[in-house]
Amino acid sequence: MKRLFETDYGYFWEDGSEYVIKTPRTPKPWINIISNGEYGLTFSQSGGGFSWLTHSEMNRITRWHQDLIQDNWGKYLYIRDDDSGEVWNPGWLPTKTQLDNYECHHGIGYSRIIAEYGGIQVTYTIFVPMEESLEIWNLRVKNLSDRPRNLSIISYLEWSLGASNDHHREFHKSFLETRYDESVNGLLANKRIWDIPRENRGHWNTAYDYTAFHAANRPLEAYEGDKEAFLGQYGDLNRPSSVWETETLSNTTGKWNDSIGSLQVSLELAPRETENLNLFLGVQSENSKIEETLKQYQTQEQTDKALEAVVEHWRDLLGKMSVKTPNESINILVNQWLRYQAIAGRLWARTGYYQQSGAYGFRDQLQDSQVFLPIQPERTAEQIKLHAQHQKTDGTVLHWWHPIVEQGMETKMTDDLLWLPFIVGAYLDETGDYEFLNAPVEYFDAPETKETIYQHCIRAIEVVLERISDRGLPLIGAGDWNDGLSAVGLEMKGESIWLGHFLYMILTRFAQIARRQGKNEHSDTYQTRAKELRGALEDHGWDGEWFLRATKDNGEPLGSHTNNQGRIYLNPQTWAVIAGSVDHDKQGKAMQAVTENLLKDYGPLLLYPAYQQPDEYIGYLSRYAPGTRENGGVYMHAATWSIWAYAKLGQPEMAFEVYNRICPILNGNNPDRYLGEPYVTPGNIDGPDSEKYGRGGWTWYTGSAAWLQKVLVDWILGIRATEEGLLIDPCIPADWDGFSVERRFRGTRYLIQVENPSGKSTGVSEITLDGKPVGTTTLPISDRDVCNVQVTM
Ligand code: GLC
Repeated sequence: MKRLFETDYGYFWEDGSEYVIKTPRTPKPWINIISNGEYGLTFSQSGGGFSWLTHSEMNRITRWHQDLIQDNWGKYLYIRDDDSGEVWNPGWLPTKTQLDNYECHHGIGYSRIIAEYGGIQVTYTIFVPMEESLEIWNLRVKNLSDRPRNLSIISYLEWSLGASNDHHREFHKSFLETRYDESVNGLLANKRIWDIPRENRGHWNTAYDYTAFHAANRPLEAYEGDKEAFLGQYGDLNRPSSVWETETLSNTTGKWNDSIGSLQVSLELAPRETENLNLFLGVQSENSKIEETLKQYQTQEQTDKALEAVVEHWRDLLGKMSVKTPNESINILVNQWLRYQAIAGRLWARTGYYQQSGAYGFRDQLQDSQVFLPIQPERTAEQIKLHAQHQKTDGTVLHWWHPIVEQGMETKMTDDLLWLPFIVGAYLDETGDYEFLNAPVEYFDAPETKETIYQHCIRAIEVVLERISDRGLPLIGAGDWNDGLSAVGLEMKGESIWLGHFLYMILTRFAQIARRQGKNEHSDTYQTRAKELRGALEDHGWDGEWFLRATKDNGEPLGSHTNNQGRIYLNPQTWAVIAGSVDHDKQGKAMQAVTENLLKDYGPLLLYPAYQQPDEYIGYLSRYAPGTRENGGVYMHAATWSIWAYAKLGQPEMAFEVYNRICPILNGNNPDRYLGEPYVTPGNIDGPDSEKYGRGGWTWYTGSAAWLQKVLVDWILGIRATEEGLLIDPCIPADWDGFSVERRFRGTRYLIQVENPSGKSTGVSEITLDGKPVGTTTLPISDRDVCNVQVTM
């Protein structure tokens, strides 16, 4: 297969199915997140990372410390040549033995390191079988030389078994116990405490629910449960004394060592011979199930089948929508990586190397769940219900909550709750499933009180409609989408212009939905309120050339030409267009101001200029280093919305220009400046006020993945779900000769072929559906299984 976007560090396979890293010395850890929805792990190109079940912070199985410079924590594999005594790692770290060959393939659902040293090749594949609380490290060890070789494979990991916050190891180790178990051919580990708030007999008075195991499918030479015995008091991971200085591990287990898991397996390889080995790591709530589970993954054939099932699962899921365009970066991102990032990283793992969360953000995972709409909309429905369960009867919601303990943060953020009706609207556009609005869901503070999804949405909207200033604008409270504007409106006086646009959009959409539900009173009220809001936005939100961002509790504006710092913000401009909440002339001017003031080399900044001094009446946004994150960086999540806004405004060149500037694959062409992984979106790229202008950071754990997917398909390719049907409205570069999209919509598979013979960017001159001309750009809803759609621009 052809290599694409190759740099000194790596390349994509043409079909985007893998990113292949050529050297372990990447500019930052370049990781994969592998999860089946419950069990998950992070895996860096050097083999670093950690594992968890359900919650990456509260139920972390192995220890990990966020040292992104060293990437020096994780689960390691040592290979020792028992004849020469040489020791190396397939991932290069921690021994840093210079490898003869190295490749790390990050794929969809697995990672594979292929490394070679001294005539031995190790192919190390790591994955999580579907439906298991288990990861498999599958090794194929090949003797490339002409002489027999004796090797020891030695694994290493440190047990956490509970809250990640176990830096007080002297305390935590006292509750840990390991033991050897013959029936599982490995080590078992338990912890007598689970340091998370659970209802029980007092704080810290409950046991960890699981038994963890680390086992092998070949006879063990030895094992180790004690970190001190493994490393030696003055050894370290680069040179663990038990690996370098003694022949076997010491078989120490028990109470209360600084507990680790290490297994030693001997391999004798004849010349050119290959041997396989599986190492397992996982947890089970019933000990008896461990052996039973592992039985299914003993042979290479079983293991290959399990991996194939994972790959097939993703292929099937992602294959439900695919695109083919002349732009290879779009094909790779849209067909593979953006949805993989959003599903595996954001919705399932809820973690990255730069942020470990494990919690659900009320607004965050709702937005992320949009990736499921074209491929598995019932998952979006599930996500909507889950979030509705974290709404209180007064309509307010938890800003975030932790699964397992079901605790969360009450909030004065004023937008969170509105994402519920927003995503419900998107779900209805996709599915037309109005019955869903009648689904009963309980409230967080009243589990016995169930109301319909519709009613949950109404309660959310009603709260925001009560939080309106004298001038008719919504209050900003402790922030609105922008978490960093955390102190602008704490006295509940400051206003938000962005929230005004957003609320306008919700009111107009819900006025339609309510009408359809026969709730005319709601509909009339929302229409009236939307009209009033539009007036307030135009009268008080407009700064002359662009929209203000907000007003503080004392009435001072944010994002005004009168401000020296934070003079203009992105979101109130883009959402004026997205929501259509103001007149067309102002929408155009607002985006003109974005083009002139915010659009820089790596995309549109969230605001400009950055705040140089903290302002306690703005919040922590102003405390970030200038040019980073929300303080004047390209905040990727919001940057994707400008593609939507430019496209909606009918400015295809600008929409595509933004894509080119924020695209991680294109930015990744300059890896030593950009630093981040080229295959996933970053949370942010430093802006011009940063000393590291152009640095991509906070990768993986960002809401931008789902949004970039959506704006590329819906607004660049222009194939989008609407209430009336599937709309065809391309907004592409004029030099594309066409593109195709395969997409499901309301039970039909649409094979859409767009031709662009006369080099247009927008506009469609003819559409045929199964050969018959369609008079509109919205395809009629079909009862066929498959429809062929030919579009001529
Ligand atoms: C973080 C939060 C998200 C918020 C964004 C902007 O990504 O998780 O909810 O919208 O920051 O502040």
